[in-house]
Amino acid sequence: MSLIGTVTPPGDKSISHRLVLFSLLASGEMRLTNLSAGQDVRSSLEAVEKLGVRIAELDSETVIQGAEAGLVERAEIDCGNSGTTMRLLMGLLAGRPGRWVLDGDPSLRRRPMERVAQPLRLMGARVDCPEGRCPMTIEGRPLKGIDFTLPVASAQLKSAVLLAGLQAEGATLVREPRPSRDHTERLIQAMGGRISRVEGGWKAEGSALRLPQRVRVPGDASSAAFFLGAAAITPGSRVTAEGLLLNPTRTGFLEVLARLGARVETQVQGQEPEPWGRVRVAYSPGLLACRIGPEEIPGLIDEVPILALAASQARGTTVFHDVGELRLKESDRLAALVSQLGLMGAKISLEGDKLLVSGPTRLQAPGQLDSFGDHRIAMTLRLGLALAGGGGAIRGEDSVGISYPGFHEDLERLWR
Ligand code: S3P
Repeated sequence: MSLIGTVTPPGDKSISHRLVLFSLLASGEMRLTNLSAGQDVRSSLEAVEKLGVRIAELDSETVIQGAEAGLVERAEIDCGNSGTTMRLLMGLLAGRPGRWVLDGDPSLRRRPMERVAQPLRLMGARVDCPEGRCPMTIEGRPLKGIDFTLPVASAQLKSAVLLAGLQAEGATLVREPRPSRDHTERLIQAMGGRISRVEGGWKAEGSALRLPQRVRVPGDASSAAFFLGAAAITPGSRVTAEGLLLNPTRTGFLEVLARLGARVETQVQGQEPEPWGRVRVAYSPGLLACRIGPEEIPGLIDEVPILALAASQARGTTVFHDVGELRLKESDRLAALVSQLGLMGAKISLEGDKLLVSGPTRLQAPGQLDSFGDHRIAMTLRLGLALAGGGGAIRGEDSVGISYPGFHEDLERLWR
């Protein structure tokens, strides 16, 4: 069987989070269409509502009123499974008067928050996060700008510091070891905030934000990557993704699929709010392994799981360099990939922070797999099982609803 047809992925999760969360610092009213319906963005909606943002969900639109005039000054916020919600909230709340408790599910409670707390403390905020994890208490204070170099290329960390910078006295400089996704910078600019490029990073200065009136969120590149990646390795497949986000800081996976030997056609069709368009990927026989360098990783960080599955079908050893950050995602994705793709017969191993996948291997469907409650591992395994020609149970598979609630329906439609 093959994957054939067209997919219109849900609204991009990263852009959806930002549109919702930035309303905490902004004035005006905004009408959003194609907002991500995943549980993660629901966590952001619930958080800002609790903090005083007014939200109306109509049939196909979400109408949001900015809360720049003042936030609820004491609240407990449940960020669920969402690292983006928690880390961006930390930056957004750091300079506002009030005291808030931020918490999350068991996965989020394991993830590192000290890396965000530290620069915010340097700016003057009070952040208490015992052992660098949540639950945490954050107390907003008057902030001063800092010149900060990120210890890792993380868009969430970069965003938190820039958002605090918008509330600080003086300039805040954020320098990144390697460029990561730039949705925060673009949106701050679109909302009239003072942000500009500097050598190796960005500078933010105290400014008021105004919500854009209308935004249609482009389709989620990371969701589409599952079907596009699976099309590249499943004989006879061709999948078209429509209305897809094509911001170059998010499309690294398409370059890797092309390098493995898949046929990839990209057509940019619009620029608002960010580049978007159509992507076609078709299987072609004789895929060959490739090297994925450290500088490429931030641009495909969430696509490593599906690319690892793709690499299992390419001749030779594909090496992903410097993927240690994957240990700190919703699950330890490196351990999950090695154990679960390994159970399916893939030749996959770790050497320090390098992930190695050799192929081509004929995958099998073992009795039971485990997603460790991680949406991107669950979708990768489901497509691996489809390629293996069978079904089989995946523990924690309902986690797909975190980012892609319609995943199974889309798979059923395309799989023929
Ligand atoms: C995200 C950034 C990435 C990514 C995550 C979403 C964002 O994390 O893995 O799913 O929306 O900013 P990093 O903080 O590691 O860049």
